[in-house]
Amino acid sequence: MNNTQTLPATNSPSDQLKERVYLITGASGGLGRASALALAKQGATVILSGRNEEKLNQVYDQIDAAGYPTAAIIPFDLAQTEEESYAQLIHSIYNEFKQLDGILHLACNIGVIGPTNSQDAELWQKVMQVNVNACFLLNKVCLPLLQQSKHANIIFASDSSARQSKAYWGGYGVSKVALESLSSILADELDTTSVHCNVFIPGPSLLPIRKKTHPGEEDAGLKSAEQLADAMVKVCLSKQTGQYFSC
Ligand SMILES: NC(=O)c1ccc[n+]([C@@H]2O[C@H](COP(=O)([O-])OP(=O)(O)OC[C@H]3O[C@@H](n4cnc5c(N)ncnc54)[C@H](OP(=O)(O)O)[C@@H]3O)[C@@H](O)[C@H]2O)c1
Repeated sequence: MNNTQTLPATNSPSDQLKERVYLITGASGGLGRASALALAKQGATVILSGRNEEKLNQVYDQIDAAGYPTAAIIPFDLAQTEEESYAQLIHSIYNEFKQLDGILHLACNIGVIGPTNSQDAELWQKVMQVNVNACFLLNKVCLPLLQQSKHANIIFASDSSARQSKAYWGGYGVSKVALESLSSILADELDTTSVHCNVFIPGPSLLPIRKKTHPGEEDAGLKSAEQLADAMVKVCLSKQTGQYFSC
């Protein structure tokens, strides 16, 4: 397994992401919401994506109330498989912003943690679609715009437990290993460009998915979503590529 760099807990100076535009999938989720706020606090314009508009509106309102740059909302179901739908999404980003400096792939379907042979086939396909295939499709349509940025980031969220390929991690485990492979391949292919591809691993944390994968785990000592989001800002600022980051 690849070495993971632990990011320092120091606060970043303010306005580090001023005039940058980031697309965040899973922006209504635990890490997505906290990352949207942390990036916006640093001056970025964040495009909030998810399926649930009401939850996205709440994140939008939080950003607005804090006085950060006005966010945008793009409802989008990543279970969609047609490339054309993804192309339309990037068209609407282009029309509004003419710019994209990064994608944070934070949407995730956990499927079922259990024996491989008892996995429902349809759900397995959906897990792969949301967690891996949709990332491929989004990257594909966004890359031409990302490559126009002086410093672009594609960040994939993995899972400290699922990536170990142990019993019962099912489609979620397979998807995270595939996602890490996608990040490495892309980082290698884009090595000489301004686009940096990295994996972020939350680890033991107070995120909703961790509550599902580790029910009953004590909260004491777990990282907060805000701590993780501060680390996410540092990944956005990093000039490294093909790396694995945690905090
Ligand atoms: N141990 C670890 O390393 C660890 C621990 C926790 C989390 N993580 C990783 O961190 C990431 C974020 O976790 P989290 O706990 O913040 O997740 P979460 O709160 O469950 O949020 C998941 C997000 O994915 C979105 N989503 C799910 N299916 C979708 C679809 N079909 N189309 C569009 N959006 C969809 C949800 O949007 P809706 O509002 O539309 O449902 C929600 O915003 C995940 O990749 C997870 O694997 C790792």
